[in-house]
Amino acid sequence: MTRRLILDCDPGHDDAIAILLAAGDPGVEIAAITTVSGNQSIEKVTRNALQIAELAGLDARIPIAQGAHRPLLREAEHAPEYHGESGLDGPRLPEPTRALDPRHAVQLIIDTVMASEPGEITLVPTGALTNIALAVRLEPRIVERVREVVFMGGGVHVGNHGPFSEFNVAIDPEAAAIVIDAGWPVTMIGLDATHQAVVTPEIRSRLDAVGTRSAAFVGELLDFYGAAYAVYGFEHPPVHDPVTVAQVIDPTLVRTVRAPLAVELTGTHTLGMTVADLRAEAPEACCTWVALGVENDRFWTLVESALARLP
Ligand code: RIB
Ligand code: CA
Repeated sequence: MTRRLILDCDPGHDDAIAILLAAGDPGVEIAAITTVSGNQSIEKVTRNALQIAELAGLDARIPIAQGAHRPLLREAEHAPEYHGESGLDGPRLPEPTRALDPRHAVQLIIDTVMASEPGEITLVPTGALTNIALAVRLEPRIVERVREVVFMGGGVHVGNHGPFSEFNVAIDPEAAAIVIDAGWPVTMIGLDATHQAVVTPEIRSRLDAVGTRSAAFVGELLDFYGAAYAVYGFEHPPVHDPVTVAQVIDPTLVRTVRAPLAVELTGTHTLGMTVADLRAEAPEACCTWVALGVENDRFWTLVESALARLP
């Protein structure tokens, strides 16, 4: 069965690369793209998603729907320091020609899952988990129909929003708790792994040599994104979101361990922390995995090949 993905995202420079990887790799198919407030406002990330779809020449039949404009309980929080005022600062993007799907993202997620065979759809969230949490509450039956949830967020020993919390989880920790506790298989692609997915100069030269419009776009993304990360002391920028798609395409690229996983919802200093219990063998009923490493060179080879297949 072809791995069909729903990408729930907040583009976002690294979300954009995740979309291109999913669009270009023959091992997966994009069933839908949904957007959620995060890196920028819902309006901005949604416009960005439409522009990325245009640039990638995405099949016009792939629906794109706008989602939650803020977290479940908390005020909206954005990350212009990494993604700029537009959410995708740096590249010039084509004007979108396609219309948004009229449904809310949550309804599109539910409709897509319920209309597919059990086990056909994999959810790949790369922003706050607000839409996914709302979908679980609106239609609980999606939990047994979705093959798995592979999300970018959290971390076992690393934080970026706080010392022990990562942005996607920290801006909507209640949503993350609902998704992680739902009972479906969940793989958390956290900062422990994605901080290894770095664009070294050698990898950047390989991407620049691909020669397609999509590869040139990624280069322009990385120029802005790399400069932003350099301000925060990163020699090479870590590209988080596409590691989720890569893990679905080739699980051998990402080292994961099965471990009970929880989200801190009340800590004074640890709110939004993802707590993985690695102390002992996970109990039989445990359905959560956490990523601890990625094979960076093979990961970027996958991205390179996908970009070469796109316009
Ligand atoms: O912490 C990194 C995550 O937050 C990435 O998904 C990035 O796009 C932002 O959404
Ligand atoms: Ca993201």
